[in-house]
Amino acid sequence: MIITCEKCRTRYRIADSVLDKPELKVRCHKCGHRFIVQRAAPIDDAFLLQEELHPDYSRVIAVSNQKGGVAKTTTTLNLGAAFARMGKRVLLVDFDVQANLTILLGFRKAKSFYDVLAGGVKDIGGAVVKTKYANLSLLPSSSKMALLKKKYLSQHNFEYLLRDRLRTIQDKYDHVLIDTPPSIEFFTLNALVAANLVVVPSTCEYLSMHGVSQIHDVIDVLKKGINREVECKVLITMHHPQNTSEKVIFDKLRQTYRDNLFKTVIEADDRMQESHIVNEPISYYAETSRAAKQYMQLAEEIAG
Ligand SMILES: Nc1ncnc2c1ncn2[C@@H]1O[C@H](COP(=O)(O)OP(=O)(O)OP(=O)(O)O)[C@@H](O)[C@H]1O
Ligand SMILES: [Mg+2]
Repeated sequence: MIITCEKCRTRYRIADSVLDKPELKVRCHKCGHRFIVQRAAPIDDAFLLQEELHPDYSRVIAVSNQKGGVAKTTTTLNLGAAFARMGKRVLLVDFDVQANLTILLGFRKAKSFYDVLAGGVKDIGGAVVKTKYANLSLLPSSSKMALLKKKYLSQHNFEYLLRDRLRTIQDKYDHVLIDTPPSIEFFTLNALVAANLVVVPSTCEYLSMHGVSQIHDVIDVLKKGINREVECKVLITMHHPQNTSEKVIFDKLRQTYRDNLFKTVIEADDRMQESHIVNEPISYYAETSRAAKQYMQLAEEIAG
């Protein structure tokens, strides 16, 4: 029998030998939370679950907004780095032909998802590279990725290409984060289908707010069939708290998305540009900067 921890959602298999007990008091091996697995009658002894299930365990997070320049790539990199610093095993997937995430991590001419599909590498794991940061790996992008759209867009079930291949390596990671391009097409759809959480970065600007509602419309359609489990949350990025017009848009986003707006807000921070120039996540470049702390806080909000 498979059960899920009420608190951290870790999944376990209960050994057949204890299945005949009427009610199980259990303790999550991972977060320590105690809860009852219902059976007909109660029993007293706490039973520590042993076996953790891996398939489908990793959290797949797509970072998406069809508005350009709202910090999708910056968020993928820095949220991923924050998770990695928390000791989580993280895979970043650059699913944008611009390959900005790949460039920010200092890789050039690496193998990409294109090579996985074109047969240049045997499986998706063969294209994954380790970054110089502990726990942080990358599936790079390259300009060749543009050919994928042409080749596969008209094919039946093209939107499952990434999800199906990710599933073969997902047990190696706690979190998979996918960076997407500023449009809703081949790459973004593949990412949205693979994801169980979509983070939608938005600046407090009028047109950025529209991008948020467009991506929500697409996700509403996916939730009705292709990806019923997917959650979606808006993240305010590059915020200037003192700016009056930003305050107006912020309030509007808060009213519209309520619980689906992250509590954490990422403020504009000059150190971010500097960290990009030296090809480092902000938490390594300037650990005590505002942006580094806010991305760490975001990782804790998601993990918690
Ligand atoms: N918190 C921040 N403070 C200051 N500048 C930031 C911050 N976050 C991102 N930026 C800057 O904003 C610009 C756009 O960021 P980024 O490339 O991550 O956006 P994007 O949404 O991925 O863009 P695209 O749509 O082109 O893929 C970059 O120059 C980046 O350095
Ligand atoms: Mg980008």
